[in-house]
Amino acid sequence: MFFCRSLLFVCLSYFLFDSVGASNIASRLVGRTSRQVRRFTQDFNVALGVVLDSREKLLPQVHLTNSQSVFCKSDAGATSAGSNSSSSSLGPSGSSESAGSSTNTASAAGSTSTGVAVSTPYKLVEEHSGSDFFDGWTFTDAADVTTHGIVDYVDEGTASANNLTAITSDGTAIMRVETTATVTGNRQSIRITTNSIYNSGLWILDAIHMPTGCGTWPAFWTNGPNWPDGGEIDIVEGVGDNTNDQATLHTLEGCSLASSSSSTLDITGSVITSTDCVSTGGGCGIRASSTVSYGAAFNSNGGGVFTMTLNSSGIAVWFFERSNIPSDITAGTPLPGLWGTPFAWWASPTCNITEFFGYQSTIFDTTLCGDLAGSVWSDAGAPGQEQSCATRTGVSDCDTFVRNNGASFQEAYWELNSVKIYQIPS
Ligand SMILES: *[C@@H]1O[C@H](CO)[C@@H](O)[C@H](O)[C@H]1NC(C)=O
Ligand SMILES: *[C@@H]1O[C@H](CO)[C@@H](O)[C@H](O)[C@H]1NC(C)=O
Ligand SMILES: *[C@@H]1O[C@H](CO)[C@@H](O)[C@H](O)[C@H]1NC(C)=O
Ligand SMILES: *[C@@H]1O[C@H](CO)[C@@H](O)[C@H](O)[C@H]1NC(C)=O
Repeated sequence: MFFCRSLLFVCLSYFLFDSVGASNIASRLVGRTSRQVRRFTQDFNVALGVVLDSREKLLPQVHLTNSQSVFCKSDAGATSAGSNSSSSSLGPSGSSESAGSSTNTASAAGSTSTGVAVSTPYKLVEEHSGSDFFDGWTFTDAADVTTHGIVDYVDEGTASANNLTAITSDGTAIMRVETTATVTGNRQSIRITTNSIYNSGLWILDAIHMPTGCGTWPAFWTNGPNWPDGGEIDIVEGVGDNTNDQATLHTLEGCSLASSSSSTLDITGSVITSTDCVSTGGGCGIRASSTVSYGAAFNSNGGGVFTMTLNSSGIAVWFFERSNIPSDITAGTPLPGLWGTPFAWWASPTCNITEFFGYQSTIFDTTLCGDLAGSVWSDAGAPGQEQSCATRTGVSDCDTFVRNNGASFQEAYWELNSVKIYQIPS
């Protein structure tokens, strides 16, 4: 099933495993005509107590490869200047950065497998950390009109006054969801978008904690202009009790993964959607193999670091748990060539990155229920979600649970050390 409505979306493809007939339902969808799929999906959503509205009009373009469903989350754009950089056609598990770059030779460095000392080509251009963490972001001040979660995003002043944002005595940044015991409408939450944009570079998120639990649907992602024209790169995303992160691209038609095989793609993750990244089909999603890359497992493990590189040869995403963060990252002299195989890698020539990805804004949000977390409320089987939220909470729908159980959202918060964005100077 596919849920999209407005112009800008963050999309997440969600793989349905066996339980409450979900896989049965999805497998019945495979091979049907668009019309049949659409009608069947309406039935499925009626069964789940979900309102489909106009999103269903996009269903004819959904490509169901196996028992899977696709979901979308929308976005607001951003403004301001970015920077350009050159690129090569080298892949992510090589050591291209180590080879010939000569910028910043004075800074700390790593070494290649042959022991040759190297320096990073990357220069830090933007950092959000400490008491200034929230500088340089715009707070969305509106309901979640795009993914239909039952949250009201609040402005910076309201967020701070209501204790939804904070800087801790450790200098970490907090973004919470309202935990008032019961609400009749929406819970307050936070969505922030950088004022800066970049069409290439390296993004590094160091997070200690992320929102988790039944009803939650947080994300950290980047988004180009005039979605889906400028493309979208979901770096951290999941729902409910998930334990494995999913990274997903959403583009105009014409960008795809070369294969669904992890070994062919040279990734450690698994393709869990169609290989076609077209936004109307829900994008192309890759799930990390690490069971501590998302949710409660990530949090109890002390969190970790997500990195994403974007250049004309491809888009790569890595996850490092806290105990295994590469020293070049900690030193502020990142060398992706030393990080080994990424969990996700989308590359030319099957996706012309320059063509499908424009200047990217960087975004965090936490929504509740809505097009994804609400729709999969009764589903089980995804890693971490062996039991559905309906079963686990004893409440048959997401909205009712979220409105009546504020204490359940004590864990629905981001705690961040930093967001850093690097560029290769031209
Ligand atoms: C980036 O490149 C585009 C296309 O060449 C150009 O229009 C734009 O001005 C450049 N932006 C910066 C910040 O250099
Ligand atoms: C582009 O990104 C990939 C993955 O990080 C990397 O292997 C490659 O060296 C990069 N190219 C340039 C010119 O930075
Ligand atoms: C803000 O919320 C946190 C987490 O619920 C709580 O520990 C803290 O005491 C609150 N601070 C204020 C000033 O209300
Ligand atoms: C990729 O897209 C860019 C921008 O549209 C274009 O200039 C370039 O020729 C394309 N590359 C290939 C290999 O098609």
